[in-house]
Amino acid sequence: MENGLEKMNIQWFPGHMTKAQRMIEENVKLVDAVCEILDARIPSASRNPYIDRLAAGKPRLVILNRCDLADPALTARWKKYFQRQGLAILETDAKSGRGVNGFVPAVRELLGDKLKEYEAKGQAGRTLRVMILGIPNVGKSTFINKVARRKAAVAGDKPGVTRGRQWISIDSGLDLLDTPGILWPKFDSQEVGEMLALTNAIKADVLDKETLGANFMLRLRELYPDALRERYKFEPDPNANGYELLEAAARKRGFLVSRGEYDIGRMASTLLKEYHDGKLGRLTLEAPND
Ligand code: G4P
Repeated sequence: MENGLEKMNIQWFPGHMTKAQRMIEENVKLVDAVCEILDARIPSASRNPYIDRLAAGKPRLVILNRCDLADPALTARWKKYFQRQGLAILETDAKSGRGVNGFVPAVRELLGDKLKEYEAKGQAGRTLRVMILGIPNVGKSTFINKVARRKAAVAGDKPGVTRGRQWISIDSGLDLLDTPGILWPKFDSQEVGEMLALTNAIKADVLDKETLGANFMLRLRELYPDALRERYKFEPDPNANGYELLEAAARKRGFLVSRGEYDIGRMASTLLKEYHDGKLGRLTLEAPND
């Protein structure tokens, strides 16, 4: 493959996703706006390519969640990118709650015309309804819980867990429709699949972890070589392949299997876990086309 990346076979579309997609298509009629929650580290790969169809022309708000783990300079660029497309945008860290307070005002601004329309019809105070969409594990439950200021939805780090339709009332005249996290039948490229696996939207066990880790090493060498230098204390050789980079890190960590042989599988798991936990710093894996 290009860039020396190893080829992997990533297949992902369990039956419950089709059901969930149908539920979304059926319920979109009931809402005033659609809110897409994206992972700020992969704003393009975490975006459902069928969003235009799913959102069916409704006003849209994009939430860049996990901002605490993303590169602030790139988040600012992504924000401008979405604004230029005419989308309302909010940056959040649903885990700590940072940015979440901006949600209700953002929805009211987005639906300003609708609110005026309701007022003109003598329906001032009518509840606004917003559908929350997002890939598995992007932080929907955590976000909704924070917005609702209660334990409304169950949060958990389990990709692919389905939940039924759920309306959540927010105290200020706003109802949210939670939807099951969905992916789509075919990824545009292997890179999209890899990024979804790196951020836990796809279970890492459907993939070859070692290859995922090796390819991630190559990506980090290109985008954030300092993160490798600082965290794993080695100088990434520009000519090494991904497995060799894993080996160099494993050597520094002392992940020895036998004399002179290092455990690159263990290193791959460590790398993925440490990225997940934010230990490599705030790293965004894609830049907008600006
Ligand atoms: P989902 O409903 O979309 O499936 O996602 P959910 O809210 O269950 O969140 C998945 C995991 O992501 C949770 O982790 C949650 O705490 C974490 N998370 C959600 N939003 C943010 C955010 O803005 N920043 C960070 N750093 N994490 C976020 P977990 O299961 O509690 O475990 P862990 O990943 O925190 O260890």
